Amino acid sequence: MSYDLVIHGGMIASSSGLTRADLAIRGETIAAIGADLEGRETLEASGKLVLPGAIDVHTHFQLPFCGTVSADDFANGSKAAAMGGVTTFIDFAIQAKPASITEAIARRRAEADGQVCVDYGLHAALTEWNAARQAEIGPIIAAGIPTFKMFMIYKSQGWQSTDADLFCALRETARHGGMVGVHAESDDLINLLQAEAERDGLKGAYIHAVTRPAVTESEAVARAINIAEAAGGRLYIVHMSTGASLERVEDGLLRGVDVHAETGPHYLLLDDELFKRADGHHFATCPPIRKPADQERLWEGLGNGSVEVLATDTCTFTSAQKAMWQGDYRKIPMGMPGIELLLPLTYSKGVGERRFDLAQMLKLLCENPARLFGLWPRKGTLSVGSDADVVLFDPKLQVTISHRDLATHCDYNPFEGTRVTGWPVTTLVRGRPVVRDRKFVGQAGHGRFIAREPAGFAERG
Ligand code: URP
Ligand code: ZN
Ligand code: ZN
Repeated sequence: MSYDLVIHGGMIASSSGLTRADLAIRGETIAAIGADLEGRETLEASGKLVLPGAIDVHTHFQLPFCGTVSADDFANGSKAAAMGGVTTFIDFAIQAKPASITEAIARRRAEADGQVCVDYGLHAALTEWNAARQAEIGPIIAAGIPTFKMFMIYKSQGWQSTDADLFCALRETARHGGMVGVHAESDDLINLLQAEAERDGLKGAYIHAVTRPAVTESEAVARAINIAEAAGGRLYIVHMSTGASLERVEDGLLRGVDVHAETGPHYLLLDDELFKRADGHHFATCPPIRKPADQERLWEGLGNGSVEVLATDTCTFTSAQKAMWQGDYRKIPMGMPGIELLLPLTYSKGVGERRFDLAQMLKLLCENPARLFGLWPRKGTLSVGSDADVVLFDPKLQVTISHRDLATHCDYNPFEGTRVTGWPVTTLVRGRPVVRDRKFVGQAGHGRFIAREPAGFAERG
């Protein structure tokens, strides 16, 4: 039987191991995996790993934030995704009070549809809780958005939720099979420490870290877990940055709380000494990058499964945008580019440096995100019947990271000069190449909004 496209001679990777086989695609899906398959077209993959496309569940493209708009829009952000081997991302539709969440979703769909070259989904970010918001939860989940986001900070953005809001949202979303992601930081503690820094005349980007010590995250993580436990809800901790927070997650897991955690490459590979550089403000994000001991603890959590997802929190600001801080750390546009480097950094620093194996990497980047966020088994796996989202990955290719070679609009890179071994060379989204031999060949509009199922369970470990 002939297929549209056969990926020939690569090592097909799954969380149960590596198999040398051909992978055949018909239309948009994987039709067969086996020996000696033939197709109208062939992609040669000898010497390459054949991976499921990575899924980045945390991006902020063209986000109005901190007095500006993040610099990678949906068209360019999805191009950066494709170049980095990410075939699905999940961004946020943030409710602009008093308008509804449904309106925020429609606005975000209008911005992304027709622009993206890889597939995408949306989380619905709740910025208030009342009867009208409660009434939206069930229909939003039924329409393919089973995951919500709430912020324990960002009062000035109008995004902050109270503990009571969080309790109600966790209880209601659980009734419909949904999950709530939280940005967990203590507003009270940060406000206190910022006021003390002001009193003491402390200045500079490093004060961003000084005024947000580990407890400002771990206290909020513990609180959110306690609230989820009482509400009987499913909780997802986004961009977790500290070892202390991981302890709270592990305590919650031992008590049987339905809690899940994400961290990102920046928390694993960058530390807060960088804030002392002249360009230290480029590294500012919330929560801040931390200490080497936190990095080690997070790597351990990724290896043993207590941290289930790696995602980037991509929120790109150029050096001109970052310069808006004018020396005041509270005015730095918060966020960094990331999506393009998720897979190469995880492979090189995680698998290459033996912090975990390839199977565990696939759980963190593909399977767990797909299961937890309602995409499994359509995405996150190379299985017959799944979408043909496939990455040919050269495990030997050595690259020194430079912003000049990346698709992001960012004119610097937090990982500038880092040497990695292993790079995605070809990316297919639903059977069609969007990157071929490291050249972008995709098209705006090829990517689709993916309606997701209510979240399932990722296998831990
Ligand atoms: O500083 C960050 N992380 N910017 C993006 C918004 C958020 O909090 O995730
Ligand atoms: Zn956040
Ligand atoms: Zn974020």
